[in-house]
Amino acid sequence: MRTRVAALREIALGGPADRGVMCVHVPFPFAQGPCCATSSFCYERQPEFKETRAMDHFLYKDGQLHAEDVPVAEIAEAVGTPFYVYSSATLTRHYRLFHDALSPLEHLVCYAMKANSNQAVLKLMASLGAGVDVVSGGEYARAKAAGFPGERIVFSGVGKTVEEMEAALTGGIRQFNLESEPEMRRLSEVAARLGVTVPVTVRVNPDVDAKTHEKISTGKSENKFGIPIAKAREVYAEIAALPGLEAVGIDVHIGSQLTDLAPYELAFNKVAELTHALRAEGHDIRRLDLGGGLGIPYERSNTAPPLPVEFGDLVKRTVGDLGCEIEIEPGRLIAGNAGILVSEVIYVKEGDGRNFLILDAAMNDLIRPAMYGAYHDIVPVMEPAPAAERAPFDVVGPVCESGDTFTKQRNLPPLSEGDLVAFRSAGAYGAVMSSEYNTRPLIPEVMVHEHQFAVIRARPSYEDIINRDSIPEWLEG
Ligand code: LLP
Repeated sequence: MRTRVAALREIALGGPADRGVMCVHVPFPFAQGPCCATSSFCYERQPEFKETRAMDHFLYKDGQLHAEDVPVAEIAEAVGTPFYVYSSATLTRHYRLFHDALSPLEHLVCYAMKANSNQAVLKLMASLGAGVDVVSGGEYARAKAAGFPGERIVFSGVGKTVEEMEAALTGGIRQFNLESEPEMRRLSEVAARLGVTVPVTVRVNPDVDAKTHEKISTGKSENKFGIPIAKAREVYAEIAALPGLEAVGIDVHIGSQLTDLAPYELAFNKVAELTHALRAEGHDIRRLDLGGGLGIPYERSNTAPPLPVEFGDLVKRTVGDLGCEIEIEPGRLIAGNAGILVSEVIYVKEGDGRNFLILDAAMNDLIRPAMYGAYHDIVPVMEPAPAAERAPFDVVGPVCESGDTFTKQRNLPPLSEGDLVAFRSAGAYGAVMSSEYNTRPLIPEVMVHEHQFAVIRARPSYEDIINRDSIPEWLEG
């Protein structure tokens, strides 16, 4: 039996939770009072209080999966499969969880748009008052197009080019997070040439093991990110002597999908120590960017990652008394459980000793299982009968390689050709990491808001795709 706390955590993050275990219509640790009374996300009051996932906006209602108040099958009918669908209520709620968790500290939640950079998602974040973390000229342009003012845009990333620096320095920027000495000198040159002084932080590498997947761990000395913390004082001294740069703070980001607060605690304590040391040397450290990385529940289990409110408490405990403005850069926790990927079963194929569910979505649409061995919950869009017998399936896509496997031997309720399934927790690092491998068009993205839905990125036609290429003159017949 799942614990109450685990259930609460999953619910809070919009992730999967069992039904019938408990009711969330009670005073809730993340709301100021009873959630029904205070929160817009709890829009669907269920008088009998039997539904436990009122804060998960992808719920079965009347026997079928809904995105907020829209039946997922209706969206499938309108846009065709596969597609992504995002809940604006969940996105909003997750942003607010962080915002509330850091209050009353002076702070800015800078949404890491690499998780999901659709313009509609960005526009929603901008309208909520969020800042944004960008890592490329393209992301910077997206931020501006979505209406983020320069003073709410933080520029991260290990390899910023002169063109990217110029764009941000002329278009407006809150700060650059510097990741190396050559980059520091390059930015100084560019800023001085443009006659501006730009606020910077140095991303320090605290040599802390984030205890996450090796491909998304960034805070160990062997990783390419940041400047070794032991070298930081030297680097800040050089910044003070360089034109065009003003060191305003310290930045740290140790990895993604962290499910334990202990590595954060180690890193933040090192940042607090460094703040004192730098101030003693005359640097006016007044801003701390603590990065992103808080994990989300992907699986139904008792071990749910810490909550934003617990993360907030840790921030207050470790760096809260330094009088610094706090910035954080969450991506996955805001967008991950705010999105699902919907796909149709093309065939059910009986193999030698195992059965395959062949979907119309593939690794090019959602690469996380192939790339990281990531787990995504897969649920039928039509609610299975409670007594439906489950059977093991390998769930695969049509792409021509064996890596195009979403999961092996997953127990699923009965499914047949033409049935719709949903991959949960697919709102972050799903659409943004997709490709047109096998000339499979990028799939549509849809946003729901209560009873409404809108296509926020349309599926390109084959012609659109083909016309992006051009034939050199010497090949023209
Ligand atoms: N800030 C910086 C500097 C980052 O590099 C990242 C993520 C974030 C913030 C946001 O981290 P989050 O809160 O989303 O964990 N594609 C991988 C995840 C890569 C994360 C890269 N950096 C995946 O699908 O799991």
